[in-house]
Amino acid sequence: PDSRAGVGGGRAGAGALCLADYESLAGGLLSAPVGDFISGGSGAELTLRGNRSALDRVRITPRVMAGVEAADPSGRLVGSASEMPVAVAPMAYQRLVHPEGELELAQAAADAGVPYVISTLSSYPLEKIPGECWFQLYWLRDRAVVEGLVDRAAGCSALVVTVDVPVMGRRLRDVRNGFALPDDVVAANLQTTREAHAAVPGVSAVAAHTASAFSPTVSWDDLEWLKRRTELPLVVKGILDPRDARRAAEIGATAVVVSNHGGRQLDGAVASIDALPEVVDAVGNDIDVLMDSGIRSGTDVLKALAVGASGVLIGRPLLWALAVDACDEAFGLLRTEVTDAMLLAGCADLAAVKGLTWRNDG
Ligand code: FNR
Repeated sequence: PDSRAGVGGGRAGAGALCLADYESLAGGLLSAPVGDFISGGSGAELTLRGNRSALDRVRITPRVMAGVEAADPSGRLVGSASEMPVAVAPMAYQRLVHPEGELELAQAAADAGVPYVISTLSSYPLEKIPGECWFQLYWLRDRAVVEGLVDRAAGCSALVVTVDVPVMGRRLRDVRNGFALPDDVVAANLQTTREAHAAVPGVSAVAAHTASAFSPTVSWDDLEWLKRRTELPLVVKGILDPRDARRAAEIGATAVVVSNHGGRQLDGAVASIDALPEVVDAVGNDIDVLMDSGIRSGTDVLKALAVGASGVLIGRPLLWALAVDACDEAFGLLRTEVTDAMLLAGCADLAAVKGLTWRNDG
């Protein structure tokens, strides 16, 4: 896949040198409200920033003389084969940044051998999205709609239930911008009217839609119901407390995602990388523990795995790469960064990465 970076049709690459470069490359291209919708967090954005500072504090102790010529980052993630321990995080409304939206990012993920998670709020219908996909479910007030989505997702390889959005966190940038979806971007899996997304000054239309459509009363009983209703591996996304992780494991989840939603939900929530060790201690022997929020580089992936994750989800950097039409380049760079980090830490494969020691330099 390395050699694909920077070649091919309209996906020639944006000249990024590292995955983190896409933030500034996209920044010059997106409208301010769309840029803010993607970059922003909730409240004072303490958790948004905390995800980064916590990852920066983690330090790895590399091994040497391992005699490794080529590191192999491939493995399995929640039953899907993956070329690296990475999946594309579910992100709503990808047509906001690219006319082909989900179709483009999912195809690039498939070409890179990385699972792609389709959002409930995707702007193309889930059936149209190519490749090895997992489906992310938000718990909606209308149980019939939830059932319909679960049935439609039967062809996916996993069902990811996001449990950290009883209501949407107050994202002040969106409120300030009166953020609303443009006419050509819709929640394609839902029968949502345009009015549900209408712009209102001083209100985030996306938050207003969430308030009307999402069920704040979703509970563990609902997860048990869902477990009976589907044969797909169940992934519970948005766990930070080890007690919740244990509960998810007891109900039969295949994996949890330690996540604070990229700092977009409870402002002041613990950084995902800091919450990870206790969750791994609680359930790591029984189920997969994935992690997201703040991953920006191959060394961040290495850190998450050393701390105990089986893999990570990556959000914003891949959306920024989509915005500059450089998804193939982004996956190529990410793969280079992951394999470089493995080689420099003396790791031939992911089992060796898991055996690395780390410390928190806080
Ligand atoms: C998200 N996230 C998200 N999560 C989810 O379960 N369903 C969704 O529809 C969305 N939508 C969404 C949109 C945008 C623009 C962003 C930035 C994020 C959260 C996402 O899956 C993931 O948890 C975080 O983005 C991970 O943090 P990083 O990698 O963006 O720092």
